[in-house]
Amino acid sequence: MRVVCGDCGAVADPLHICPCGGLPEFALDTPRLDPLGLRRVVRERRASYEPLFASGVWRLRELLPPIHAQHVVTLGEGNVPLYDSAAGARYAGVAHLAYLHLGMSPTGSFKDLGMTVAISAARARGARAVACASTGNTASSMAAYAARAGIDAIALVPRGRVSDAKLAQMREYGARIIDVDGSFDDAFAELERLGEVMVVNSVNAYRIEGQKCAAFALLEARGWRAPDWIALPGGNLGNISAFAKGLREARALGLIDRLPRIALIRAERGIDTAASAIAVGKPKSQARAQRALRDFNGVACMLNDDAIFAAKAAIGREGIGCEPASAASLGGLRALRAHGTIAPDADVVAVLTGHVLKDLRVRAHALA
Ligand code: F0G
Repeated sequence: MRVVCGDCGAVADPLHICPCGGLPEFALDTPRLDPLGLRRVVRERRASYEPLFASGVWRLRELLPPIHAQHVVTLGEGNVPLYDSAAGARYAGVAHLAYLHLGMSPTGSFKDLGMTVAISAARARGARAVACASTGNTASSMAAYAARAGIDAIALVPRGRVSDAKLAQMREYGARIIDVDGSFDDAFAELERLGEVMVVNSVNAYRIEGQKCAAFALLEARGWRAPDWIALPGGNLGNISAFAKGLREARALGLIDRLPRIALIRAERGIDTAASAIAVGKPKSQARAQRALRDFNGVACMLNDDAIFAAKAAIGREGIGCEPASAASLGGLRALRAHGTIAPDADVVAVLTGHVLKDLRVRAHALA
């Protein structure tokens, strides 16, 4: 599979930023795959006893960078539920709403889908250590997969801004944690000082390849019918980039016949939001996210913390639950519906990115 710079199109290295400043991405050679055959194979693999295919990511291996099965590091990620929610639809003011709950992943966040591919690539390349800067979830996921692979993991985290649960996971899986004074952006800047380690943030093209499988999981669960809208919380903007890539490929492969629109929701308070997972000031995938919004006739909106926590309470009251950052997707849909951007008859999917136990903050007013 070719790797190119997403900005200038030059041949690129999957692990390094292009001299032009753009991020590398794998280019899928689509025409050789037929959509009906692909749908059938994915379905058959779901029922197979082959351990590799217990993973919702590796079931799609024809769409992934070639990595030999012996190097694959998997925790059975990518099998996440799509919950229909009448209460969520009422809350947002739309006709139909479902939650794609990526928090129901092995380490409790959507990061596992990308991490299985990044750590498998690290193992295939013989990497001794991997590192990331993180608000907590990327690092928890990296720590688990690296431990499975027998690779050292180094997590650079903004001091005092990561939930206890995420720090506990990193320790449990044996990562080395380095506290950095400042925000996620400052922690990211420190990565350069580490020297010879493989960075597994979403600037690593392998991460995006795994994470794009969330879009395929969503479409498969809906019988390959695209919704009108998909709402995503945004931080470093790797996730919207990955969803966009997956959706473009699904369209190019003929798996779907139209594209959904994308709603990207970010925290108004930026690096000071109580939704600590998305407390990012300068997203590294800004350019890719802008491209995604353009290609998918998308919209970006900002939400204050009260609106995020009110939406979190609504999701909790349904017996589903998620971490604060994830609830931005439902809160954003409600705001966009109120503005008239989203039509009342819309069929929408809100992506929940993290498990309820990831961050135990509850707002008293939200219980009223
Ligand atoms: N939701 C959760 C729960 C997250 O942890 C993140 C990002 C996002 C949404 C946003 O995704 O960055 O791809 O736009 N967490 C990163 C981390 C920053 O370090 O765990 P994004």
